[in-house]
Amino acid sequence: MTTKPRIYLDHAATSWPKSVAVIQAMTDFMRDCGAAAGRGGYASAAAADRIVTTTRRRIAALVGAESTKSISLHSNGTTALNAAIHGVLKQGDHVVTCAAEHNSVLRPLHCLHQRGEIQLTIVPVDRAGKVDPQQLLDATQPSTRLVTLTHASNVTGAVQPIAEIAAAIRDRPTLFLCDAAQTFGTLPINVDGIDLLAAPGHKASGGPLGTGFLYVASQIEDQVAASIQGGTGSQSESLEMPTTMPSKLEPGNLNVPALAGWSVALKLIQDEGIETRQRQAIQLSGHLHDALSEITGLHVYGERDQLPIASVSINGLTPMDAAIVLDSEYGIETRAGLHCAGSIHSYLGSQDQGTLRISAGHETKGSDIEKATEALQSMTAMMQALE
Ligand SMILES: Cc1ncc(COP(=O)(O)O)c(C=O)c1O
Repeated sequence: MTTKPRIYLDHAATSWPKSVAVIQAMTDFMRDCGAAAGRGGYASAAAADRIVTTTRRRIAALVGAESTKSISLHSNGTTALNAAIHGVLKQGDHVVTCAAEHNSVLRPLHCLHQRGEIQLTIVPVDRAGKVDPQQLLDATQPSTRLVTLTHASNVTGAVQPIAEIAAAIRDRPTLFLCDAAQTFGTLPINVDGIDLLAAPGHKASGGPLGTGFLYVASQIEDQVAASIQGGTGSQSESLEMPTTMPSKLEPGNLNVPALAGWSVALKLIQDEGIETRQRQAIQLSGHLHDALSEITGLHVYGERDQLPIASVSINGLTPMDAAIVLDSEYGIETRAGLHCAGSIHSYLGSQDQGTLRISAGHETKGSDIEKATEALQSMTAMMQALE
């Protein structure tokens, strides 16, 4: 841990700091309640149930879902995406996705492809990490069971045309899965035309680690099978998993302490308004990209979009070394490497060492961005002097 004041610019990984109200709700729950949800009938168990239901209601409201029953809760974005991917795909299905996806989508698809269960088409992206919607649609076939697309790249922040894709395939039997990991809590989302939407709770929506959700449209609920089996606190006489949402995708106890915090974080977004969060993100993105573009010798991958995420590299310095210098000399926390999204880098030209990613969030101050860009300016100047 650095002794310098901590400047946290790794919000694309997880948001920090969490709001005091979120921390308070978690400690209150653990001290005063602590019961499991969906199991007992006593008063504290009912209080735990209420926390779970309120969390579902707040998520449903933020994505425009018709019912709380459409929201299953998971331990992160990856488990939610896996519940969707393994839940809907069957032998012989064809899947279309794009090269900007995170490994939480690419790895389960690769696994099914390697086992010979599915056919997979991965559509290229441009130098900013954006997919061409027409190219994606052209890759679909009559046998395409699933199109899966990230709402925004966690490497460049490029926002993908999900509404356009949703509208184009809504009348087809093809299901549309959206990975909203980078946008949930920052950009307005509406599940109209989207069959499945997954996101973690620990990024922009301000919840703690150990949270995530999957939205399953009620009309396709019977097309999603449980890929993990276990106790649900219901129908215990049966060896079959319940067939209805959300219990069929929620075996085992939920992480109620974390949900207590996430629920409060979601309420803060509701109170502030998602459009306010979006405006703030666009402003931070502009500030970050404008400042970075002025640094001679610094390469910025992609282009400015709505999210305050930027991937950069400095001539002569590996992204890993740059991240180490930022941390040890300036107390600035960023991330280096491929960012769990291996495929996008060959389109960005960063396949050898990945990028240095700077990502801001709701708690980031303009002065944090200025300190980071000043540090990058000095590091770039030093590398140029050594050339
Ligand atoms: C685009 C994207 N999808 C999925 C995930 C996976 O989320 P989690 O780390 O909560 O499993 C991430 C996390 O970094 C992400 O950036």
